[in-house]
Amino acid sequence: MKTRSFTLTLGILILTTINALSQTAGNPVTDLLLSAWSPRNFTSVPVTDQQIDMILQCGIKAPSARNGQPWHFTVVSNEAVMKEIVSNITPGNVIIVISGKVSQTGVTPDFDCGLATQNMFIAATSMGLGARIYGGPVAAAREKREALQIPEGFTPVILLRVGNIEKGTDAVSGASPRKAKEEIVNWVR
Ligand SMILES: Cc1cc2nc3c(=O)[nH]c(=O)nc-3n(C[C@H](O)[C@H](O)[C@H](O)COP(=O)(O)O)c2cc1C
Repeated sequence: MKTRSFTLTLGILILTTINALSQTAGNPVTDLLLSAWSPRNFTSVPVTDQQIDMILQCGIKAPSARNGQPWHFTVVSNEAVMKEIVSNITPGNVIIVISGKVSQTGVTPDFDCGLATQNMFIAATSMGLGARIYGGPVAAAREKREALQIPEGFTPVILLRVGNIEKGTDAVSGASPRKAKEEIVNWVR
């Protein structure tokens, strides 16, 4: 009797595991989300205009409140201009400055811009490129709004650096650890 109930429990456990795995393993989107990371070291192999075009399309496709699309994207590939914003930039990289529309109350739609940024981060990663989001240099980008030709009524919210990853860079040790699920998730069933 004991053996039968053990076999049954084991069977249920195996089926549950298979079911859970079949929902994620081989799903290219979840696999990519779970393996994406933000490299720091890039090669000078240039990112192509076609790659940037696809990344931008994915950013533009992001959802936004009331479909307001309150963003503007400035693609910077000029090395001198990039260096003034991100000092350790590698030639061949591209910086996309994501600017948000300034509302009458002076608030920018940061959340919508964040969604567009994450879409582009994931798109670049899926294309085998490296992408890193930068908040630190936003002030520098705001100061350079004229050189960046940012349209009136928009202000830089966040930056995305895209480049080819240095070969031999270890994605596992390069990625930052995450908090344990138990620490940050609660369910109300
Ligand atoms: C809003 C935001 C601002 C960030 N600003 C910077 C930055 O100024 N400099 C930098 O090196 N990385 C910056 N990052 C990258 C984070 O450090 C990185 O996403 C985080 O450590 C997770 O790393 P991983 O994607 O490799 O796991 C920023 C990320 C976000 C989302």
